[in-house]
Order: sequence, then structure tokens, then C-alpha cells
Amino acid sequence: MVGLDVEGKALARAYSIVSPNYEEHLEFFSIKVQDGPLTSRLQHLKVGDTVLIGRKPTGTLIVDNLLPGKTLWLLSTGTGLAPFLSIIRDPDIYERFERVILTHTCRLKGELAYMDFIRHDLPGHEYLGDIIKEKLVYYPTVTREAFDNEGRITDLIASGKLFEDLGVPAFTPENDRIMLCGSTAMLKDTTTLLSAAGLVEGKNSAPGHYVIERAFVD
Ligand code: A2P
Repeated sequence: MVGLDVEGKALARAYSIVSPNYEEHLEFFSIKVQDGPLTSRLQHLKVGDTVLIGRKPTGTLIVDNLLPGKTLWLLSTGTGLAPFLSIIRDPDIYERFERVILTHTCRLKGELAYMDFIRHDLPGHEYLGDIIKEKLVYYPTVTREAFDNEGRITDLIASGKLFEDLGVPAFTPENDRIMLCGSTAMLKDTTTLLSAAGLVEGKNSAPGHYVIERAFVD
């Protein structure tokens, strides 16, 4: 939870941490809602201001809730990219999976945050650069203007174009593990497709083929 003290009361929302678990600082990624109770204030923070941070992280987007597999898919829309920016810098992920595929879908190409960082900075990462070059695949897509890859991730899965473009087989319960982070509608439509492919959701008590998280509350 990230928040501010507003007139003596804590006003906080759930955020995913962007920075990897070994960093000295915490990084967050947010949209700015001009009349939103929290982000209308957060966007004007100055150095030295106080931010409230919850001590106990919670959530269901956990790699331990996934069965072992070959390919890890990280499917995101909008600010749903945030938790995956941490995960793609976790060395453990590259030990567990042969390949990690990150997709990010936004309306406009200008909204593809961190694109340069993923494409240019990460392969040069001091410790993880080599393994990232070998195992991480990044697939950004845009839905409302022309771009190299176009369309909703759901449509790209359903048509098979995603797999064709990447030169990999379609999802199977044997090989593929999937983490989803995006809007409620995106999660609902994507999980319908995953269920149709025979994949089941992983829980704390019973690891499965995919796990989901809500990036923001509708
Ligand atoms: P679209 O432009 O076709 O609505 P938003 O900014 O509304 O959160 O959307 C972020 C991205 O998620 C957009 O590219 C949007 O596509 C896409 N999106 C919205 N709803 C869904 C859905 N139900 N399934 C898959 N992608 C979706």
C-alpha cells in the first residue's frame, strides 16, 4: 500500500513494486488521475515529502503459485506492467524457466513505459545482462494507432498471431506458465482463453498454470 496523510487520515492504494527485491530504493509506476483522491496529490510530491508505505506486501501474483514449466509468460496492459519490471530483474526467474516472454499492451505507443529500459538498458545490466539477452523476449503491442505489433493481447492469443510472431508453440499445460496483470476486463477475457487451453489458476494451496493480479480497482 502506498499513500499520503490527507488531513490527518491515511489515504492509501495498492501498488506493485517496480524495483527488484535487491535494490536499495522502492520504485512505483502509476497513472495520474487529475481528480483522483490519491494520484492528484502524489503527482505533486516534492523531495523531502512524506509517503506512507505498507510494511506487509500482499497479493496473488506469485511465482511460487506456479508449477514448474518451460516458458514463463508475463502478460500486462497499462500500469499492469509494474510487477513484471521487478520480476524480469529477479535472477531466480531465469533459473526456473528456459524462456521469459513479457508482453505489454497499451492504447498508444507513447504509453509503452519502460520500453527503452527493457530494450536497451536491461541487456547491459551488470549482473543479469547476459542471461536477459539469452532468455528474455519483449513483445509490446498497441491498440489505437499504428505500431510494429498491433492489437489486444487476447485477440493475438486467440488468432495465434502472438505465437506466430514469436516463433513459439501455443499455450499448453505442460510447457507454459502465465502471470497476468491488467484491468478487470483484460483479466477476465484472458483467463477465459487460458481455461479453454486447459490451464488452471494457481493458488497458495495448489500451484497451477497461471496466476493473476489486479493492477488497479475499476
Ligand atoms: P483497447 O484500446 O482495444 O481498449 P486501458 O487504458 O483502458 O486500461 O487499456 C489498456 C490496454 O488494454 C488497451 O490497449 C486496451 O485495448 C486493452 N484492453 C482493454 N480491455 C481489454 C480486454 N478486455 N482484453 C484485452 N485487452 C484489453
